[in-house]
Amino acid sequence: MKSKKHMLLFVLAISIAAIGRANPLEDGKSIFSMRCAACHSVNKALTGPALAGIEEKRSLDWIFQFIRSSQTLVKGGDKEAIEIFEQFNKIPMPDHPDLTDDDIKNILAYIKSETKTEEASVAPFPKPGKRPSGARPLSADNYGFFAAYFFSVAALIMVLLFAVRIKSYETQKEDKELSAS
Ligand code: HEC
Repeated sequence: MKSKKHMLLFVLAISIAAIGRANPLEDGKSIFSMRCAACHSVNKALTGPALAGIEEKRSLDWIFQFIRSSQTLVKGGDKEAIEIFEQFNKIPMPDHPDLTDDDIKNILAYIKSETKTEEASVAPFPKPGKRPSGARPLSADNYGFFAAYFFSVAALIMVLLFAVRIKSYETQKEDKELSAS
């Protein structure tokens, strides 16, 4: 009984820890809306270019460098950086040197999740194999779901165990009463 209890506590602790961890998509979304959305939209060019498909267009390393300091790239003679800089009327994008690799990866995950494909906006039903935008596939990325699932199962087991204990306590009591009388 004791080791079962420990096991349950362990499962519970893990579930709570997992739920407590922020969701990468949510993180990316909040950074994006606070620090990028003034100039960028995912699917539409504003002051800065639309960011949909950026991961296919540029290397991850380039994206890291550009977001942290675009002008360093431009002044260093990077062709892609100069081209986009000139295309957008030489408006320098402000530096974000404090964003970590993970922050930027979360932003990219958010951009990906918000990217609208042509077919999705035209077709009344999503094509087979295409997810409607906003749908969140089951993957390690949304472990919040798994954690919640895990947590509910653990809670259910607790309730069941508790019920069994009450039941056995009652039968014990009955037995005692029987033998007393
Ligand atoms: C003040 C406006 C502004 C803000 C805020 C801003 N950007 Fe930009 N961004 C630009 C402009 C303008 C460009 C076009 C290149 C240039 O002019 O240097 C650009 C270019 C980019 C590019 C390159 C796009 C391409 O097609 O190569 C990326 C990636 C990017 N921004 C990401 C971000 C992210 C992520 C944030 C938030 C952390 C952000 N930007 C915040 C204005 C901004």
